[in-house]
Amino acid sequence: MSPNFTETFLRSAEKAFDGQPLRLTDDGIWLPMPLDVLDAALDALQASGFWARLGGRAKVLDAGMGDGRIVAALCSVPHNLWAYGIESHANLWGLAQENLRALTEQGMASSWRTCQGDYLDLSTYPKLGIRLEDVDAFFNYPDGNEHKLAALLRDHGRPGAFLVILTPEHGLELEGLTREEELTIDRGPGVPEFRLVLYRVQRQASA
Ligand SMILES: C[S@@+](CC[C@H](N)C(=O)[O-])C[C@H]1O[C@@H](n2cnc3c(N)ncnc32)[C@H](O)[C@@H]1O
Repeated sequence: MSPNFTETFLRSAEKAFDGQPLRLTDDGIWLPMPLDVLDAALDALQASGFWARLGGRAKVLDAGMGDGRIVAALCSVPHNLWAYGIESHANLWGLAQENLRALTEQGMASSWRTCQGDYLDLSTYPKLGIRLEDVDAFFNYPDGNEHKLAALLRDHGRPGAFLVILTPEHGLELEGLTREEELTIDRGPGVPEFRLVLYRVQRQASA
């Protein structure tokens, strides 16, 4: 993670909601992903061969992107991804745009698009120039809407697409998707560990 990245998002967390770390938004709660977890999560996904499994020019989307930190981190993955973000809260969306533009001016890949909207609404995706079924992997740091997102992907996601849940919660079960893998992010003694749980939209049974 570059010094620019770290500085941008440390500053951003101080700016948003007057520095309060956890705030209610229109649809959920804004709780920014700790930067050490994000860094370790990308390393864990790289080590597990996840990016290679997605293939070239994959479309990856952070559902509820907050200040844009996961979208920015995805732009730094050396796999030529398209990174998308959807956020319902107007001020957070504005902050994410500001952060992503600033980092792009400082040399980050410009292969990102974001919009303000509801990720549970299919009509939001065309604002990004895509359809929900074009997305190869969804990321979500859950704030209560993860079961609705799983149901949406079960019904409308591309078979084989991933849902990557980043959570400190143990034993989260999402109905309707196949739970494929769990990676643990150990943050050292006394700090709550995080889990990366990889779910997949089920492939249709062949006739
Ligand atoms: C726990 S925060 C995670 C933010 C960011 N992904 C991160 O890891 O730092 C969840 C975010 O999702 C947004 N959110 C929740 N439900 C949403 C929905 N249906 N559509 C768009 N944004 C949503 C909230 O406003 C909040 O900013």
